[in-house]
Amino acid sequence: MKSKNYIYIILSILVIIFYTVEIDYKGETHYKDIKIVAEPDINIVLINKNYKLPNEYIPNDLEMISNFYSNDNKYLRKEAKKAFESLSRDASVLGYKIIAVSAYRDYEYQDRLYNNYVEEKGNDYADKCSARPGHSEHQTGLAVDVMGSNSDYDEFENSIEFEWMKNNAHKYGFILRYPQNKIQITGFKYEPWHYRYVGIKVAKIIYEQDLTLEEYYDKYINLN
Ligand code: DAL
Ligand code: ZN
Repeated sequence: MKSKNYIYIILSILVIIFYTVEIDYKGETHYKDIKIVAEPDINIVLINKNYKLPNEYIPNDLEMISNFYSNDNKYLRKEAKKAFESLSRDASVLGYKIIAVSAYRDYEYQDRLYNNYVEEKGNDYADKCSARPGHSEHQTGLAVDVMGSNSDYDEFENSIEFEWMKNNAHKYGFILRYPQNKIQITGFKYEPWHYRYVGIKVAKIIYEQDLTLEEYYDKYINLN
């Protein structure tokens, strides 16, 4: 058999594996043994389908992002807001446009958002795209969704800004929180637009070692 045929066979197998993993992945399966986080105010707080914020949690140092770098009035916690503005300012000097389209969201807002997904797309799809209330990083005031110069956060992956963010977000303390190849770990679909502030030191480690926040915790933080 020609070596070209082998390549086709291997590629076909890889495609089948990829789609099998996607199909087998059920959005709700991660919601088990849910624990309420003890320290919701730390920069590296882990919020996901297993770790939840107290329902009434509201960060006490929310600040509005400058309207130069956000559409409408969007809020982040003080340190994250400062870092995001520096990131957007430095990017704009280089000709990029990075705009916050969603940042802090309270429990009730997330509840409406999640339930809209459920009504429109069903439970399984909702659980892959949207966190249930109390389980969203947006409630921490440390997460931001961005759009680039193509003005559509959903198409951020295809903007020139995405490439810049991939290589530079960590220098400002942000990580790409839901990478494409880690959906089994994070529990959420690939979100090229969602960045999470964890501080520069931790962001650098996560970036250099290609980790998720979950993997960072497994490796460096003992939660028990
Ligand atoms: N889309 C992310 C997972 C959220 O709802 O927080
Ligand atoms: Zn987000």
